[in-house]
Amino acid sequence: MDRIRITGGVPLEGSIPISGAKNAALPLMIASLLTDETLTLQNVPRLADVQKLFHILANHGVDTSFQGKRSGEDQLAGQTVDLTARAIIDTCAPYDLVSTMRASFWVIGPLVARMGEARVSLPGGCAIGTRPVDFFIDGLRALGADIEIDRGDVVARARAGLIGNRVRLPKPSVGATHTVMMAATLARGETVIENAAREPEIVDLAECLIAMGARIEGHGGATIYVDGVPRLTGARHRVLPDRIEAGTYALATAMAGGDVTLEGATSEHLERPIELMQQAGAEITVTNRGLRVRRNGHGIAAVDAETAPYPGFPTDLQAQFMALMTAGNGTSRVTETIFENRFMHVQELVRLGAKISLNGQTATIEGVEELRGAPVMATDLRASVSLVIAGLAARGQTEVSRVYHLDRGFERLEQKLSRCGAQIERLSS
Ligand code: EPZ
Repeated sequence: MDRIRITGGVPLEGSIPISGAKNAALPLMIASLLTDETLTLQNVPRLADVQKLFHILANHGVDTSFQGKRSGEDQLAGQTVDLTARAIIDTCAPYDLVSTMRASFWVIGPLVARMGEARVSLPGGCAIGTRPVDFFIDGLRALGADIEIDRGDVVARARAGLIGNRVRLPKPSVGATHTVMMAATLARGETVIENAAREPEIVDLAECLIAMGARIEGHGGATIYVDGVPRLTGARHRVLPDRIEAGTYALATAMAGGDVTLEGATSEHLERPIELMQQAGAEITVTNRGLRVRRNGHGIAAVDAETAPYPGFPTDLQAQFMALMTAGNGTSRVTETIFENRFMHVQELVRLGAKISLNGQTATIEGVEELRGAPVMATDLRASVSLVIAGLAARGQTEVSRVYHLDRGFERLEQKLSRCGAQIERLSS
């Protein structure tokens, strides 16, 4: 298993191109199941989760072809992919495929909408919490699907097609909003999704679906209206930049110090994180290339953060923000409100010399003068990158093992950071 070795204490200077968003690319790829024509996606990141989903979609009958590199293209440029689900040859997504990635459960929406049936394995728990699928089941039932759980699979049937209805989500779930919205595009009549998630990735999917001929309004707000159409067509769509990757490198720069431009990053999707980073002492400015992040000379102020659905502070930046706070001048509190078990990084940060105590959903962090490098273990995607951020500022060497977690969501992380002077390398074994 690969490890990442970092020698800390070097400020970051330079620029980092921000990739297409993993959490937009995944539902966009799944949307290809809704049409027999080709959906072309540009700026698709090269990530393990994206590869896994290509594999899962291939099992349903989706043909995938990658367009070659164009002249002058940066080696870190995203890929352009054609996805064509001419015929769905299998409406079943088995356990061995779905269990490795929760988002693959979302295929249930397009499959039942287009084919009138789907059998998708329950995704099970994962390192960050139990993550049930009750909102998906209730949402698809509201659209007229008959749903039963059979031997660990969710079986959805709507032989005569789905019928539009009002769906009120108990919480603004990202996955349930994606799934119900996709299913509703091919339902008869209007669906109203209330208490919908408002994340930029929802807006990106809605815009792609609209380009495919769907009738959707209200996306980006808490109520989404979908007027069903008999069929969708192919389209061409560019995946939006990854706000979590951008936020992560911004926090890395705030932690290590220096001056980094995040090429292609947009401030509008990062308002709350930018506000908190500025309070912590980072200078963040919008330039015509993206976002410029600087921290030169002065220390890091202790700032509290609480995660919340968009536009609140994202749970996917919680671990990285906590890493920054380990070096804060004073005591800060980080509260997690989305997932009940997303504190696996705490023990590993403590191994690097951080002072953190946990009480329920709140971590109290007492800033220390210096972190010290140590061997640490990645536990989930965002937790692992928080260890990299801490390692960039720690004295001596930090070795992060179980790097496959990082590869799920950060494209060529070592290359991007070493371009800015970080002493970081991958050790293959
Ligand atoms: C998406 O997960 C993201 N995944 C997660 O990114 C992200 O952390 C999360 O949204 C929150 O922003 C992708 O986009 C692929 P939810 P999702 O449904 O859709 C509860 C990363 O690191 N809930 O919005 O699975 C749930 O338990 C990841 O990239 C139910 O109770 O999250 C949670 O408390 C990991 N029943 C809350 O809703 C349900 O049926 C929000 O979860 C569904 C959700």
